[in-house]
Amino acid sequence: MSREFTTVGVIGLGTMGAGIVEVFARNGIDVIAVDASDEAVERGRSFLTKSTGRALERGKIDQAAYDALHGHVTYASALESLAPCQLVVEAVPEHLDLKKEIFAQLDKIVADDAVLATNTSSLPVTEIAASTSNPKRVVGMHFFNPAPVQQFVEVIRTVITADDVFEDVKALAQRIDKKPVIVGDKAGFIANALLFGYLNHAVAMFESRYATREDIDAAMKLGCGYPMGPLALLDLIGLDTAYEILDTMYKQGRDRLHAPSPIIKQMVSAGLKGRKTGRGFYTYAGAGSPEIVADGHTPGEGAPEGVIVREVSSVGVVGSGTMATGIIEVFARAGRSVTFVARTEERVAGVLAAIEKSQARAVEKGRATREEADALLARLHPSTSRADLAEVDLVVEAIAEDLDLKQELFRDLDRICKPGAILATTTSSLPIIDCAKVTSRPEDVVGMHFFNPAQVMKLVEVVHTVSTSEDVVATVQSLCRELGKHPVTCGDRSGFIVNALLFPYLNDAVKMLSANYATADDIDTAMKTGCGLPMGPFELLDVVGLDVSLAIERELYIEFREPGYAPAPLLEHLVTAGYLGRKTGRGFRTYA
Ligand SMILES: NC(=O)c1ccc[n+]([C@@H]2O[C@H](COP(=O)([O-])OP(=O)(O)OC[C@H]3O[C@@H](n4cnc5c(N)ncnc54)[C@H](O)[C@@H]3O)[C@@H](O)[C@H]2O)c1
Repeated sequence: MSREFTTVGVIGLGTMGAGIVEVFARNGIDVIAVDASDEAVERGRSFLTKSTGRALERGKIDQAAYDALHGHVTYASALESLAPCQLVVEAVPEHLDLKKEIFAQLDKIVADDAVLATNTSSLPVTEIAASTSNPKRVVGMHFFNPAPVQQFVEVIRTVITADDVFEDVKALAQRIDKKPVIVGDKAGFIANALLFGYLNHAVAMFESRYATREDIDAAMKLGCGYPMGPLALLDLIGLDTAYEILDTMYKQGRDRLHAPSPIIKQMVSAGLKGRKTGRGFYTYAGAGSPEIVADGHTPGEGAPEGVIVREVSSVGVVGSGTMATGIIEVFARAGRSVTFVARTEERVAGVLAAIEKSQARAVEKGRATREEADALLARLHPSTSRADLAEVDLVVEAIAEDLDLKQELFRDLDRICKPGAILATTTSSLPIIDCAKVTSRPEDVVGMHFFNPAQVMKLVEVVHTVSTSEDVVATVQSLCRELGKHPVTCGDRSGFIVNALLFPYLNDAVKMLSANYATADDIDTAMKTGCGLPMGPFELLDVVGLDVSLAIERELYIEFREPGYAPAPLLEHLVTAGYLGRKTGRGFRTYA
């Protein structure tokens, strides 16, 4: 006989607890909501009132549903009030001793067949269970933030959890409209084990001033379609909680990449715990407010003082592939005259045909008028001779990803282009300084890393080398904005911002799969429904191509010599076997 959960308890009404109360109550379950003091209970009640009030305002629930939801909740500040509960979910701060103490007490308060669940993100559930007289009835029930929104729930089964207990909890999770996945008791479980390495890495980038907080966050939102940037997400999670999670993961796995970046601890000590205290990486309108307000770190508009932006009215593009074609169209769409150089007449014709087709589609879909499309096409000046680039203000090269070829081109551009012309490369993996050093004007050489398809993707990584001059960076940033793009700026390191943050995480997912901790389906589900990512890691690897991914991971490993970046052997094997992803019909999955 499975358990009927009609009354459940929630302890700790903070970021997570208040959301968990809302989820149960919204699904018609009576909730006894407990926090440590009357004051804390009041704060928890106000979280719930605010969150449901917003839902009411936005028409997501009506007044009757709002009243019913609140009718299901009673508040208390004593654990003894939880006696009638068939299930208690604990969501107090991430401290093992505190949780053990609470479980030991609960064990004496609730009925013998009641289930005890912890919402811990990383602490050993087994050890928490061992603090009770009956560890068989203890599970992890790990909700995601914000609990009313994220569908995913990890149900953590320890080696002693009774079968009926986790089955009943799984059924309950389904009843409250969540997608439960059952996992073993390992720090970080699926989602956090993959997410926190990435978040910690983003903090390290910020701490080393590799890029600004705004640029790191914008890069991941616009480059990968993530719902939030990593630093804004850490503010939402709470830096104190994030610190504890990383610390526990580090202590369990001894993976250096999980050692909390020092600045996290400093911020926590200073009370900058994120949204809940009104300040974390960003400053918020008030404690608990989601609204970011400007502070001393907010970047100003336009070029820095004293820096004069160069005039860019005509541009050149070298190359005839997917990226070059997209970039040519982007420039022409923004009213620039574009001289583009391909190696042969056929390639020139190919580029023109592709842009004509894309413009015809734009007209068909009403995104441009015929006149606009014709004017755009009239701004294109095709050529097979690099000499035609002599007078342009800026050249972007998008030829093959081969350093010898690119260096040969840069030598030539140096000879051909007028003084003051900016020479940009769209390389995604080669050191830009290697292109700059073969010219007599390394200060004019810069990276402009567009994303594919360039016509659609808003992000451009503007990459400066140790030699790039300030006005070149400012000119390219302002040009990007005129193109309708969002520039982010960073130094000349392997992976720039996006790939450097993305690929180690994908690699970790492959390692988790090879360790048989979870299936590819469960891992993909965890990252999509727990963290709101547009694709799971295995879906994404299959789309990007396993060979391409392996090449990027190798570059990152060689550049940073981080043992954790060494490509997972499973990825190497799949590539060796010719399973390269969708393009070959098989990668991590097999395609029709
Ligand atoms: N923040 C997240 O994104 C997230 C996501 C999933 C899971 N978790 C986990 O959820 C748990 C809670 O984290 P949070 O972010 O909600 O923390 P929080 O600091 O926002 O809230 C903790 C709450 O527990 C209360 N509390 C403290 N001591 C208590 C006691 N002795 N008895 C009763 N209540 C007590 C506090 O008053 C506070 O309301 C942690 O285990 C955390 O790892 C957090």
